[in-house]
Amino acid sequence: MSDEREFANIYESEDTTHFSVVDKDGNMVSLTYTLENGYGSRIVAEGGGYLLNNEMGDFNAVPGVTNRDGQIGTPPNLIAPEKRMLSSMSPTIVAQDGRPLMAIGSPGGRTIINTTMQLILNVIDHGMNIAEAMEAGRIHHQWLPDVTSMEERSFSPDTINLYEAMGHETRVRGRQGSAMGVYHDRENGLFMGGADSRVGDSGAAGY
Ligand code: DON
Repeated sequence: MSDEREFANIYESEDTTHFSVVDKDGNMVSLTYTLENGYGSRIVAEGGGYLLNNEMGDFNAVPGVTNRDGQIGTPPNLIAPEKRMLSSMSPTIVAQDGRPLMAIGSPGGRTIINTTMQLILNVIDHGMNIAEAMEAGRIHHQWLPDVTSMEERSFSPDTINLYEAMGHETRVRGRQGSAMGVYHDRENGLFMGGADSRVGDSGAAGY
């Protein structure tokens, strides 16, 4: 298999990616795109020139088995014809007064929903700009397992201790997601781009 660095100037992630776009009139696109991990199924559609994903892995592969890794063995996600598998991908547009205010999203499997939610909370409720919202520390909890993971170097030991004293199990781990977003500042009419510094292939650009 070729290394994509032979063709591109920068290393590009081999799995899920997200981009957000705004045009001069304020129309927005929010798109999360996935092959799943590691080049998807590694099969190229003949004559098409594109890789097929392996999202089939997001179906409930082992009925009835619910484990601490987050596999949930419920019947609604069983494989069947014409069904679509469970997905956490959450390309999101937040609107205000019927017009797009911001477009956001992220890769990260089951952490995507929490990453996206925290971006919205950071901007709308905590008054951060889109870039600050991207950089703020992230947490994740997905019911099963009953553990809250927190990004390393983002939360003080005091905060973690207080949270654990309330009975929560915590786990500190590396980065969560790779968010990309655009924001329309209604006060000055400017469009702002936010690119997550957690990864090396992010970027914000205006044309
Ligand atoms: O559809 C989903 O929720 C997952 N297959 C997405 C995978 C993903 O985000 C992996 N990227 N880091």
